[in-house]
Amino acid sequence: MSRIDIPAVESASGVTAIIRALAEDGIPATNPVVETILSRSAAKYYDPSVTLSDDQISELVRITTTAPTSFHLQNWRFIAVRTPEAKARLKPIAWNQPPITDAAVTFIICGQLADSSVIPERLAPLVEAGVMPAKMVPEWENPARGLYFEHPQQQRDEAVRTGAIAATAMMYVARSWGLGSTPMIGFDAEALVREFALAENEVPVMLVSIGAERPGNWSQKPRRPLAEVLDLV
Ligand SMILES: Cc1cc2nc3c(=O)[nH]c(=O)nc-3n(C[C@H](O)[C@H](O)[C@H](O)COP(=O)(O)O)c2cc1C
Repeated sequence: MSRIDIPAVESASGVTAIIRALAEDGIPATNPVVETILSRSAAKYYDPSVTLSDDQISELVRITTTAPTSFHLQNWRFIAVRTPEAKARLKPIAWNQPPITDAAVTFIICGQLADSSVIPERLAPLVEAGVMPAKMVPEWENPARGLYFEHPQQQRDEAVRTGAIAATAMMYVARSWGLGSTPMIGFDAEALVREFALAENEVPVMLVSIGAERPGNWSQKPRRPLAEVLDLV
């Protein structure tokens, strides 16, 4: 078994400085973030001998949770399936897909049904830190109640949006660390909810495997022409 060394994360202000310097030189604003996005592809084959420590898994999730959520709900939970025993429980539920056993970790990305009543609690640290004035809290809670209360479709849409944004952020963090990732919807959702005891308000949005790739993975596939997917209005 081997562990990987993860490079220190470039601060957001460092990245901004790079973009500004590039713009001043008249060079197209490419930067490490764009390169990370452009070079990601969905992996199938992983080196099963490479593991991630629990500290590395925690850091991956910590960075992921700086992704945005509606009203700062942070309506997500991450189940890190990383032991052989837990992987064996997940594998048949996830169509026996190879990343489950071979990748260092597979995250069950859970989105939680949007519930405006948690907003005061979620915003309290912002108020305490002086980011948001206390009197603004109802200005976020009231519209959120209007949007979600007794609107199950909106609650679920938000859970899926949140989980999808988290999964995306996580895959790019993994890529920036030189790791592969696999988003997966190929699983039996009901069995997953039972086996990993998801709460009633939790939706299993996606699985994301992460680990060191081994040779044989496809490079990123060509995309549809921009003219088909972009409307400039
Ligand atoms: C929501 C979602 C679900 C996916 N489910 C699976 C899956 O169950 N198994 C799999 O091998 N790939 C899965 N993929 C990977 C896609 O096939 C892949 O992202 C797509 O073909 C584009 O290739 P690229 O990611 O390498 O650019 C999934 C991707 C997404 C975004």
